[in-house]
Amino acid sequence: MPPKRTWDAELYEAHHSFVWQLAEGLLTVLDPKPGERILSLGCGPGHLAYKIAERGAQVVGLDSSPEMIGSARQNYPQLSFVLEDAARMRFDREFDAVFSNAALHWMLDASGVARAVARSLRMGGRFVAEMGGKGNIRHIESAVERAARRYSGPNLPEPRTFFPSLGEYAGLLEESGLEVRFARLFDRPTELEGANGMEVWVRQFKGYYFEGLPRAKREEAIREVIEELRPILFREGKWTADYRRLQIVAVKSADSESGKG
Ligand code: BEZ
Repeated sequence: MPPKRTWDAELYEAHHSFVWQLAEGLLTVLDPKPGERILSLGCGPGHLAYKIAERGAQVVGLDSSPEMIGSARQNYPQLSFVLEDAARMRFDREFDAVFSNAALHWMLDASGVARAVARSLRMGGRFVAEMGGKGNIRHIESAVERAARRYSGPNLPEPRTFFPSLGEYAGLLEESGLEVRFARLFDRPTELEGANGMEVWVRQFKGYYFEGLPRAKREEAIREVIEELRPILFREGKWTADYRRLQIVAVKSADSESGKG
């Protein structure tokens, strides 16, 4: 099993606020209504949970990172946040909707998560989600992997993210009793903040590839990653991450065997 993801919540807030700021469109799709009970899955520092609560819904935020839940509770003490692995949550037909933005690709037990989501929804409840899809960060990943092979040898660390194709993810939801009503996979190049935006991104999300190296070698490897990416992802003074998103809307249509769990 790969080591558990830990987050530097402050670094995330300082440089990656675009993650929740870009989610306005997904909130429009969710269209939360006053009085609805909504689960914000992989809620991070809680900003989207708050936006949902502002529309009058009752929100529960859930995340497996103690750092993120700590930060969410500090940001929004009036809301309810739960520290739990999504695949292990035991909510049973409690929610009108489950919402998730940029979090599902960290949850490697995707079938377990789909079953837990289905279980947590009332019949007819909706799952509205966006995550990295097949081909996400293709250039960044290959530059990081090439540098890691040069510096540390052929054995790469276990993947910590997964980026499914539309068909793969839709199939997985259907097996859990969720009926897929809408799905699309699309490129969403995402601007990173500042002249060192890519370096900050690589250190935060891919730094573990270089953890075992002595400091000087680690710095050299990261510099090489950045230089390899510069001709592809640096334009007019701005870094862009080659994000590709999978957006999906599904409705609970059955208490499937696996959905009952
Ligand atoms: C993403 O949002 O696509 C992502 C963020 C960090 C690491 C990998 C992917």
